[in-house]
Amino acid sequence: MAQMKDKMIPFITSEEIDRMVADLAKKIEKDYSGQEITVFCPLKGSCLFVADLVRKLSLPVVVDFVHLTSPKGEGVRILKDISVDITDKHVLIAEEIVDAGRTLSFLRSRLLAGGPKSLKIVALLDKPARRELPIKPDYVGRTIDDRFVVGYGLDSEELGRNYRDIYNYAN
Ligand code: IMP
Ligand code: MG
Repeated sequence: MAQMKDKMIPFITSEEIDRMVADLAKKIEKDYSGQEITVFCPLKGSCLFVADLVRKLSLPVVVDFVHLTSPKGEGVRILKDISVDITDKHVLIAEEIVDAGRTLSFLRSRLLAGGPKSLKIVALLDKPARRELPIKPDYVGRTIDDRFVVGYGLDSEELGRNYRDIYNYAN
């Protein structure tokens, strides 16, 4: 059966993604050496990134999930809130892509209210040209220009999250 990706252009291969995730894991491991971290996965887009990232970390890792939505013209809403205590914990938000920064800005405030010892952001992809709010990830896999990408967790109308590579539309 035809798939959306058949009409798209490969942008980042699964091998490149794997190297990006390994590099990020190495940096994180070095910075948090000997410490426990709580990794937050904002659903749904970050599911594959978080699954791969945490498997590459040889640190004590707690994983938790949050689900936020930001319907057009409305504010951000929580569909699933945090479910672990983050008081005095080293917290790391793992986002697959940072765009306008609305979701992350909201999530950062929400998590800071939980009294963590530290709070950092790791983003596989960063689209700084699209930023509306002052969000700067502490770790970035790759900075990309303003283009819509699909695959490796990223969707187009809920499809394409399962693709191993990341694709974009022809210009
Ligand atoms: P922000 O709140 O505008 O930064 O939105 C971030 C969220 O929008 C990401 O976590 C993704 O779920 C989604 N998003 C942003 N850019 C893309 C894209 O190029 N493809 C698919 N989803 C995207
Ligand atoms: Mg996301």
